[in-house]
Amino acid sequence: MTDSTIDPRIADLRGRKDTAKLGGGLERIEVQHAKGKATARERLDLLLDKGSFREVDAFVTHDSSDFGLDKKRIPGDGVVTGFGTIDDRLVYVFSQDFTVFGGSVSRHHAAKICKILDMAMKNGASVIGLNDSGGARIQEGVLSLAGYADIFFRNVMASGVVPQVSVIMGPCAGGAVYSPAITDFVIMVKDTSHMFVTGPDVVKAVTHEEVSFEELGGASVHASKSGVAHFTAENEEDAVFLVQQLMSYLPNNNMEDPPLVPSTDDLLRQDEELDSIVPDNPNRPYDMKEVILRIVDDGQFLEVHEHWAQNVMVGFARLGGRSVGIVAQQPACLAGVLDVDASQKAARFVRFCDCFNIPLVVLEDVPGFMPGLNQEHGGIIRHGAKLLYAFSEATVPKLTVIVRKAYGGAYCVMNPRHIGADLVLAWPSAEIAVMGPDGAVNVIFRRDIAAAEDPVARKNDLVADYRTRFANPYIAAANGFIDDVIEPHESRPRLINALEMLQNKRDQLPPKKHGNIPL
Ligand code: HXC
Repeated sequence: MTDSTIDPRIADLRGRKDTAKLGGGLERIEVQHAKGKATARERLDLLLDKGSFREVDAFVTHDSSDFGLDKKRIPGDGVVTGFGTIDDRLVYVFSQDFTVFGGSVSRHHAAKICKILDMAMKNGASVIGLNDSGGARIQEGVLSLAGYADIFFRNVMASGVVPQVSVIMGPCAGGAVYSPAITDFVIMVKDTSHMFVTGPDVVKAVTHEEVSFEELGGASVHASKSGVAHFTAENEEDAVFLVQQLMSYLPNNNMEDPPLVPSTDDLLRQDEELDSIVPDNPNRPYDMKEVILRIVDDGQFLEVHEHWAQNVMVGFARLGGRSVGIVAQQPACLAGVLDVDASQKAARFVRFCDCFNIPLVVLEDVPGFMPGLNQEHGGIIRHGAKLLYAFSEATVPKLTVIVRKAYGGAYCVMNPRHIGADLVLAWPSAEIAVMGPDGAVNVIFRRDIAAAEDPVARKNDLVADYRTRFANPYIAAANGFIDDVIEPHESRPRLINALEMLQNKRDQLPPKKHGNIPL
């Protein structure tokens, strides 16, 4: 066969073994390195167990000829795809190659990613996407857009079937952001990654705002303000390490349980420090993270969305070797109140855990929902309802420890027995009532206080009386709403015991196509 009789695409591929590894060529690789970025293949080498990567579709190239594309065919077409292992567990991966057409997404580039998503769904293993792309390949027009839509559709189909993680290691702009946005976790590398729907130039033209790439869509902005990024990484190695840590808590798919990781931390360990962690003054803050670290295996807690809506904390830990998803108020931030962002953050996390058979553990100290014009106009009714909905529909084992306040609607939302908690424990410091003593007394004794000779003294007496009557766990316990009042130091063994008790839990929602969560 002569060169003139074979498909020109195949002719271009001769000598592929050398060129494929180089992507867009040495010069572009050097530019990539100079920006502090690794190449697509170097990133996969870091991520996967040594020697485990098996590439698929290395021979794929685009078949477009417009704008001189027929003269530029690079094997792999700007994305390295395949499968390998992390800690000996199968994962599917794609890694966009910025040195090839800026990692831009052609029809064939998209088809390679779709193939990986299809394989992952069929074979029940997580998908990790390393994103570094200039977006839709401009020369391909609608073919590229079609490719994107194919990816988005598969991201949605895979949601709740296999965990999906997106690591943003360069630009991710325009409609391209919607693939990571649908995946379960987004990790952004500081300084070198950006995500936005429209870039600074378009923003300036439309709204006359002048912003830098970093201010508009850098890692810190998305981790602390928008909540788009679940994690930020100092650099690419850190990002890869985060993925590896995250995967250790997750099952491969929705039909499996998370891996059991036995620890040397004593299952019966009791931490006496917990007994003095909650201040005597109910209005004084304390650090709930310390409570978490003292209860879980080896003090290990992988916090998700650490910098966003810090009044609630969510993240993964283990109890007796079992993965758990922790949802805990942080009284040290806004007194642990539930607001719009905190409700959304916790609701999405609860739903993730429920998708992937990860039991939920709630540590509750919530004074209520955040009052104010800003919150009401921001839709606290809609967003708070998401959390209520998420806890109610979750069928995984659900445990609650009421550490201090459980007031008002927030009591009903934060996984009480009434919405399906399997076991509710309370510390003696728990306060459960319609509202805090101060507010309650102001409502029910307003006239009485106003008429008193010494209104301040009268109010103080009434508050003290209310506190004795209501601000304790025993009324709820007498009604069976709380299963037991425990000493704080017993928390770890009691939670581990409860997880053992629930390991064969069976629960089902009524048959339906799907519910209508207030989005
Ligand atoms: C084709 C592209 C490209 C693209 C970059 N390149 N983006 N080729 N389609 N979308 C090519 C460049 O021509 C260049 O090729 C090489 O990649 C590297 O790009 P540079 O600009 O030299 O790199 P840098 O200075 O680092 O800038 C990176 C960048 C910039 C910020 C991403 O390239 C850029 O703004 N690109 C366009 C981004 C964009 O508007 N994309 C469309 C978004 S809309 P040579 O051969 O010169 O080295 C979208 C819609 C998706 O994606 C819709 C889904 C529903």
